[in-house]
Amino acid sequence: MNKIEVGILGATGMVGQHFIRFLDGHPWFRLTWLGASERSAGKRYSEAAKWHLGGLAPDEIAGLTVEEAKPGNAPQLLFSAMDASVATEIEQAFARAGHVVVSNSRNHRMDRDVPLLVPEINPDHLKLIPGQQRARGWKGQIVTNPNCSTVVLTMGLGPLKQFGITRVIATTLQAISGAGYPGVPSMDIVGNVIPFIGSEEEKMQQETQKILGNFAGDHVEPLAAKVSAHCNRVPVVDGHTVTVSVEFSSQPTEADLRNAFETFSSVPQQRDLPSAPKRPVQYMPEADRPQPRKDAERERGMAAFIGRLRPCPVFDWKFVALGHNTIRGAAGAAVLNAELMHSEGLLD
Ligand SMILES: NC(=O)c1ccc[n+]([C@@H]2O[C@H](COP(=O)([O-])OP(=O)(O)OC[C@H]3O[C@@H](n4cnc5c(N)ncnc54)[C@H](OP(=O)(O)O)[C@@H]3O)[C@@H](O)[C@H]2O)c1
Repeated sequence: MNKIEVGILGATGMVGQHFIRFLDGHPWFRLTWLGASERSAGKRYSEAAKWHLGGLAPDEIAGLTVEEAKPGNAPQLLFSAMDASVATEIEQAFARAGHVVVSNSRNHRMDRDVPLLVPEINPDHLKLIPGQQRARGWKGQIVTNPNCSTVVLTMGLGPLKQFGITRVIATTLQAISGAGYPGVPSMDIVGNVIPFIGSEEEKMQQETQKILGNFAGDHVEPLAAKVSAHCNRVPVVDGHTVTVSVEFSSQPTEADLRNAFETFSSVPQQRDLPSAPKRPVQYMPEADRPQPRKDAERERGMAAFIGRLRPCPVFDWKFVALGHNTIRGAAGAAVLNAELMHSEGLLD
């Protein structure tokens, strides 16, 4: 199979580096183009970017010249890890010029005509794309993945949607890698908890309702459930933990919920997409799991781990969910989105 050439917008940043690492050796996609700001353009990648991840940037990437993030010679499929202050204009310019932009940035996630995808939960929201192209007069398109804590919450709630979710309270314990580089000052986070992450609670609440909502022609009807998020930064390197209390309109038993988690499988698994975890939602029966250091990297960081399902005296049930924030919550999420799109013929 001839691989599809892909590029990264924002390749020098923290998420850009996760894209480079996640795409290394990908069976369908070959990374050939790197875009960043004019500060980096014209330099070799190894000179333009300070590599923050373990190991080194792959040799063939380290030697590529970074380009300015402007349409021109970029491949059709672009992953975006652009700084949010510039992502709106740059991503739209590429979509207008006919590119498929699979974005990790927050800028377009809540646009009415832009899919906000978790491929296992709402693959049908890709049906928004024809309307997006018509309304905006674009040959290209923009598709997004959620905020890193929202992915974990929606992978935990998705299998339970069948029971009629009415209210959710979700409290996060979010890893410091989610703040990028240099991120939170060490004096603030070592031995400490910071009970505030700017705009994170609003993003989790709104994005969850959109992802769990229903495709309705030219838009998504959000899930009519109340979602309340409490977001906290904790001294963990990788892996966001979310504790969840949920109320249902029906009365599922513990066995119903356990069965829903344990048997959950969806389109990416049926199509055997390269980055799809074999079991996207894994229930851990141990009393003290999941834990970020022990579990976040399992399944290449692409699965959500659930545990501690028990009755909630306020709502109906409560449980813990865990996912890898920079893989399933960023680069891996976008790559799986592109694989889903390819499997639908949207990259042809
Ligand atoms: N960090 C995370 O874990 C995480 C998780 C989920 C989502 N996100 C989102 O992903 C995006 C990237 O986050 P990050 O942490 O990787 O940020 P970052 O490290 O600051 O990287 C930002 C990237 O944007 C480029 N850029 C900045 N200004 C530009 C301009 N005027 N024109 C063209 N390119 C420009 C930078 O290029 P230069 O190096 O040339 O300046 C760099 O490649 C953000 O929208 C963020 O909200 C981040």
